[in-house]
Amino acid sequence: MKDTSLAEFTAENRPKYRIETYGCQMNAHESEKLAGLLEEAGFLKAKDGEEPDAIFFNTCCVREHAESRVFGNVGALVRKKEENPDLIIGVCGCMMQQKGVAEKFARRFEFVDIIFGTRDMHRLPEMLYAAAVLKERSVIVGEEDTIIEDLPVRRNSYPLSYVSIMQGCNNFCSYCIVPYVRGRERSREPEAVLGEVKGLARAGYKEVMLLGQNVNSYRPESGADFPELLSMIAEDTGIERIRFMTSHPKDAGEKLINTIKKHGNICKSLHLPMQSGSNAVLERMNRKYTRERYMELIERARDEIPGIFLSTDIIVGFPGETEKDFDDTLDMMEKIRFDAAYTFIYSKRTGTRAAGFEGQIDRAVKQRRIAELIDLQSAITYESNRAYIGRTERVLTEGTSKRDENECCGRTDSGKMVNFKGDKKPGDFADVRITDAKKTTLFGELV
Ligand code: 5AD
Ligand code: SF4
Repeated sequence: MKDTSLAEFTAENRPKYRIETYGCQMNAHESEKLAGLLEEAGFLKAKDGEEPDAIFFNTCCVREHAESRVFGNVGALVRKKEENPDLIIGVCGCMMQQKGVAEKFARRFEFVDIIFGTRDMHRLPEMLYAAAVLKERSVIVGEEDTIIEDLPVRRNSYPLSYVSIMQGCNNFCSYCIVPYVRGRERSREPEAVLGEVKGLARAGYKEVMLLGQNVNSYRPESGADFPELLSMIAEDTGIERIRFMTSHPKDAGEKLINTIKKHGNICKSLHLPMQSGSNAVLERMNRKYTRERYMELIERARDEIPGIFLSTDIIVGFPGETEKDFDDTLDMMEKIRFDAAYTFIYSKRTGTRAAGFEGQIDRAVKQRRIAELIDLQSAITYESNRAYIGRTERVLTEGTSKRDENECCGRTDSGKMVNFKGDKKPGDFADVRITDAKKTTLFGELV
């Protein structure tokens, strides 16, 4: 009998998917799981320019900007769906988990087939079946805080990899929507994390980024804390580089710093969101530390690990932020001199405590403050980059540089991007002497 099964599975016959991801690294990793589930269901990733048979939007609601882009981009698909009623359109991610949003969204965008929240991705096969076969719509937004192990993952960033170690957040910083949309903290068991990282190392991945909203509150039911998990990963998995984010300053301490110091394969870098340099603002943000305590932590990290790469997140224009408060932030930035800083304009999120605070700040004032902050930090980042000139750094090659195909690019242990001439492949380590530095990139040559 003639076997036609192979023919059915050639790339031409398989439906194609595209995923648009908004927001943080956590979301980017969740899109890798979504891709894994879609590929298990028989889909292939659409190439650039190729018309997909399914389009998914993995949304973010942490700041308003990402949210309005989602509305615009989903709305723009109405014509495509009219032309091709078989096109499957899905929307997921943390925006769908906001109170009432999924229902509102479903009403406004009747042509969207699949809507699900941050805790429902494992039900994708049944939603796909409903959309493709039954021609029925699914809206699933669960509230149950669970961890689903062993979802397939279609990784997209060799030689780097992402592993989620915990989900949710219990901190309720007053500006932040995350605890409402991602639920309470829950941690994966160390064996599960270790197994995943071991598998990645064996498959040839060189670097793992451990992800959690607040990795320092990692607390699986079996005990262990985050520094202990880090040590186990450093010692038992064979992975060459370990990074993690995000650390909340209120519970980052000596044990964490000592663990980073002790292991050669834990990158000497720490992302420690300060948010503001004013004690009054920190208090209203419910951050549970002061500028003095934050400074102490930075000093301890630098004393213990000279040259440690420090980065931060800052919000400007929090309700009630005075010129004096803002000056306190500038002052901390000047004193600490972070290697990198991600700066955000405060964005009012319905349902959070700060949304009801008095003294919401004018847009123009927020714009001026962020411009000032960015100017200051650009100068500091540039200075931090220039300090690398003359040093030899171990660089993990990630690919070719954007400006020149014959040039490689990769990152130092600290996380700085380096362009260099050579024939290294992604995943190769290279010793590179830094010869020049610009605002965002270092340049060097192989030694
Ligand atoms: N407005 C502005 N920035 C915010 N962030 C979180 N919520 C808000 C908000 N409502 C920023 C914080 C956090 C980063 C991931 O996003 O700085 O550390
Ligand atoms: Fe949001 Fe604060 Fe939790 Fe970070 S620690 S996710 S800023 S509530």
